[in-house]
Amino acid sequence: MQCSTLPAEFLSRIVDEIDIGIIVTDLDGTIQTVSPKVFGLTGYSERDLIGSTPRTFRSGQTPDAAYRELWQTIRTGATWKGALLNRRKDGTMFLDRETIASTIGLKGNKACFVAIHRNADVELDLRLKVARAEATVGEKVGEIDNAKSTIKTLVTLTSQQTENTAHALISALEARDPYTAGHGRRVAMMMELVCDELGLFVTYSRQAIRVGAILHDIGKVGIPDSILLKQGKLTDAEYEVMKTHPAVGFDILSHAAKFEETLRIVRHHHERLDGTGYPDGLRGHEVPDYVKAMFVCDSFDAMTSTRPYRPATSAEDAISILTDEALGGRIDMSPVKALKKLWHNGVLSDIVKLPVAA
Ligand SMILES: [Fe+2]
Ligand SMILES: [Fe+2]
Repeated sequence: MQCSTLPAEFLSRIVDEIDIGIIVTDLDGTIQTVSPKVFGLTGYSERDLIGSTPRTFRSGQTPDAAYRELWQTIRTGATWKGALLNRRKDGTMFLDRETIASTIGLKGNKACFVAIHRNADVELDLRLKVARAEATVGEKVGEIDNAKSTIKTLVTLTSQQTENTAHALISALEARDPYTAGHGRRVAMMMELVCDELGLFVTYSRQAIRVGAILHDIGKVGIPDSILLKQGKLTDAEYEVMKTHPAVGFDILSHAAKFEETLRIVRHHHERLDGTGYPDGLRGHEVPDYVKAMFVCDSFDAMTSTRPYRPATSAEDAISILTDEALGGRIDMSPVKALKKLWHNGVLSDIVKLPVAA
């Protein structure tokens, strides 16, 4: 599966809704594409910016060392996150929270940099969400700054740049948590195979299911680092916070995504058939077949991936665990059988081996 198949229109709608500015530059830093929100944020027009460089925004108030560190970071292919005191066209200053993801090193992609300029309203909204989550575990709201923010991710845009920017989107999503890097892409590839095996694409949209699988954990942008990156088992209270991610992801995407399958996957990928899942405690007949398949693919990839607090489970053992779950009536047997068949045919082994980082 290529991320190039993520629909540009879908991503565009997300970006329009969440009010973040996107600037795409080539490797020399020359601006190639600017999303409309940048104009409102900076006061510059498209004509001002295309062909110029992000130096246009410099205020002289940020130390050169900060720019050097930024440049060195993104040239290695890593993601840079930080705040710069920038200047608008009218001379006024603003604190510009940026995430710059690079596509350097992505096989088959023309390299570029994608800079995400965050709008304060979006940040405030997410901070409130994180604050509610933090409050439930009695942690200080001040730590929310480290909960990182936002939709550092939901990138951008023009059709000719969809592939690069979609890769950057996924990379930025996973930048916070190296142990889950590659998870969304692997799950999406498995989902496509399992749903094909089950004949689900006759009824449901392949594209919407693929997008939902890639972005299913997007709500984790609202989970504090202290929980998301914890090197050990979560406490009950922390687990309750982690369980908010499907609903947060749904909230984020529901403003933009019109695909029912995408939204259902994001919201319901942790539902179980016996009503013990979350966030809605749905029961079997309320869970669409592709969401049942999603649970199986998601669980399989999670089990066969290494975590900080445990080694990876073998594929055979993971299938055996899933089979027991299905026999117990907690998950659907059909996608487990499909996954098992694909594994034994050797179709899944390449996906499982995919690198954890893009
Ligand atoms: Fe999840
Ligand atoms: Fe997941």
